[in-house]
Amino acid sequence: MVLTWLWLLCLSVPQALPEAQPAELYVEVPENYGGNFPLYLTKLQLPREEAEGQIMLSGNSGVAAEGLFAVDPESGFLLVTRALDREEQANYRLQVTLETEDGRVIWGPQPVLVHVKDENDQSAGNQAWASLEVGLIDSTWLSYPPVHLAENLKVPYPHHIEQVHWSGGNVHYHLESQPPGPFAVDAEGNLYVTRELDREAQAEYLLQVRAQNTRGEDYTEPLELQVVVMDENDNVPVCPSHEASINIPELTPPGTEVTRLLAEDMDAPGSPNSHIVYRLLSPEPEEGTEGSAFELDSTSGSVTLGPLPLHAGQNILIQVLAIDLGGAEGGLSSTCEVAVTITDINDHAPEFITSQIEPISLPEDTEPGTLVATLMATDADLEPAFRLMDFAIEAGNMDGTFGLDWEPDSGHVQLQLLRNLSYEAAPIHKLLVVVRSVAELVGPGPGPGATATVTLLVEKVVPPPKLDQKSYEASVPVSTPAGSLLLTIQPSDPISSALRFSLVNDSEGWLCIKEVSGEVHTARSLQGARPGDMYTVLVEAQDADEPTRSTSVTLVIHFLKASSAPAPTLTPVLTRHLCTPRQNHGVVVSGPTEDPDQTSGHSPYSFALGPNPTVQRDWRLHALNGSHAYLTLGLHWVEPREHVIPVVVSHNGRMWQLLVRVIVCRCNVERQCMRKVGRMKGMPTKLSAVGILVGTLVAIGIFLILIFTHLTLARKKDLDQPVDSVPLKAAV
Ligand SMILES: *[C@@H]1O[C@H](CO)[C@@H](O)[C@H](O)[C@H]1NC(C)=O
Ligand SMILES: *[C@@H]1O[C@H](CO)[C@@H](O)[C@H](O)[C@H]1NC(C)=O
Ligand SMILES: *[C@@H]1O[C@H](CO)[C@@H](O)[C@H](O)[C@H]1NC(C)=O
Repeated sequence: MVLTWLWLLCLSVPQALPEAQPAELYVEVPENYGGNFPLYLTKLQLPREEAEGQIMLSGNSGVAAEGLFAVDPESGFLLVTRALDREEQANYRLQVTLETEDGRVIWGPQPVLVHVKDENDQSAGNQAWASLEVGLIDSTWLSYPPVHLAENLKVPYPHHIEQVHWSGGNVHYHLESQPPGPFAVDAEGNLYVTRELDREAQAEYLLQVRAQNTRGEDYTEPLELQVVVMDENDNVPVCPSHEASINIPELTPPGTEVTRLLAEDMDAPGSPNSHIVYRLLSPEPEEGTEGSAFELDSTSGSVTLGPLPLHAGQNILIQVLAIDLGGAEGGLSSTCEVAVTITDINDHAPEFITSQIEPISLPEDTEPGTLVATLMATDADLEPAFRLMDFAIEAGNMDGTFGLDWEPDSGHVQLQLLRNLSYEAAPIHKLLVVVRSVAELVGPGPGPGATATVTLLVEKVVPPPKLDQKSYEASVPVSTPAGSLLLTIQPSDPISSALRFSLVNDSEGWLCIKEVSGEVHTARSLQGARPGDMYTVLVEAQDADEPTRSTSVTLVIHFLKASSAPAPTLTPVLTRHLCTPRQNHGVVVSGPTEDPDQTSGHSPYSFALGPNPTVQRDWRLHALNGSHAYLTLGLHWVEPREHVIPVVVSHNGRMWQLLVRVIVCRCNVERQCMRKVGRMKGMPTKLSAVGILVGTLVAIGIFLILIFTHLTLARKKDLDQPVDSVPLKAAV
């Protein structure tokens, strides 16, 4: 009650003041006021627009600083914060300014005089003022029906929309818009819209019009007016944004939804302006095909797969027209695009290009690790991961004889031999090789092309005959006569089956070979051969029982300077004796004795046994010095008989053959032959040899006479004694 009285008191005071002092506001405050604080004194006419300014309050005696007075920035009321004592101070002079932050004065200064009134001065006479004012309130201040305003209205602005009226006099209209909008009221209560409205920005406004007195105080509750903005089709449908292309796996069944186009229209929801329908622009159904790849629901915007199949790897741009006004004439439209990629699925099993491999022959001695065959396979899928292949031998790979080697992405597999083959164990191998997709297969399983049959035939291999040398060489003087033995080719293993030898390409016809023994002779004189030249022929050795078992070997003949010595076969035959079992005796073989050029040069002679293996087995030849060699028995026991040992002598690039005749006898108790040949010093001369021969013939003549004379006389000869021992003794 007290507050109301104070209100009325305050309201009445300025009206009573003379108009001559409009600048200063005069406010009275009862002293020692017992009501609530803060106590509102008066409303200052602060400009509304500059509400962001700073209200500055100053006064005498530092009252503002003490916090005694203040201005509420919201309402613009000057207020006092505690009770005032008239005896302490009767008048306060205040000054109110509104300043910007940088100190510029926007409003004021407004001087205010606050007078502290004696408590006892208050009387009931002011209550009469109050009842008078209440009687002025007019019941015609009623709410109005909503105002409908079209958006984007093309009229001159401000545009009159309504008029309000407060019956009482001395009224100021004040308009507020919730939310703030382009509306204004003039002094007569005419309401205006000041510019075009946009429904999409704000569809409704609530206007409040206040009827106020000159001090800006409401007479009553504000009058409310609703403004409704009416829609216009001023918004185009907006397509949904699709970042990436949509992936659809191939073989997806028709009817599957690819995407749903939800174009948005900002116009009034539920109105035709925002009613969108869809139309498929692309891909257009191809001519001559039944149905299309995509189908569109015109109302929902749902794009589904049509009956026309799509293939992996296809990229399709779907274009859909979104039209508002339900597709009616004049509707606004946008073209929405959706990229679709048809992705691959692993629906193709890999298959061999050839499923039957022609029989492959493999020699029995094929080395493990050998590549036997290469099988090729293909996969119709596009995705590299779906083209990776796995191979296996499903059947026929006994003991892991064969293996497979492949790169998963290469599309071919190598069949390799891993173990030795055996014709006896398995003359034929039938391998079943399968190929599978590494990734899991979709749809029907692998067909018959996923297996391949490889047939392998094992060929029996018989090892070729082996000879005692890998290759053969001989050096012969170009003067060597026909029929000379050069060397003997023979098997390395003497007990192996018999061999048959032949010359393959003796184009000059110089040589011949003994088919059974393998002895190589000169077939004719080496006419045309030049010293220092080489002659290579191929010798073939065949198994006598199995002619397919054969081997060939090279024979190289080195031609030497023609020997000026007589032909080797003409070398005088020297007969020596050696007894067996082997004793400490031997035969001296002389190189230069028969060489007429012995005086020329000191180069050494070299000696070798002839190539006959029996000779080489039975005899040993050691060089004594540069011109002589020593021939001994090679074995402990050599058959007692006459032996002719070929010794090849070479000197100064010439070569000839000596035939050394040695008679082998059984040793007697003195470990000698009956005839003491061991005592001979040096070589017998030609003269002594002729002497011995003549002597022998004479002795034979005497014996014949004796035989004829004494028919009964008979002598027995010891076979072990040399035939010529007795006559020789007689001659000596
Ligand atoms: C396979 O054969 C070779 C030559 O014939 C032989 O050297 C090798 O020892 C054999 N390997 C096996 C495992 O039998
Ligand atoms: C015989 O054949 C061997 C090996 O092919 C060859 O080296 C040689 O020169 C041939 N000899 C002749 C006389 O054609
Ligand atoms: C080599 O040895 C033989 C036999 O012992 C002998 O007769 C000859 O004089 C020797 N020759 C030389 C050059 O020493």
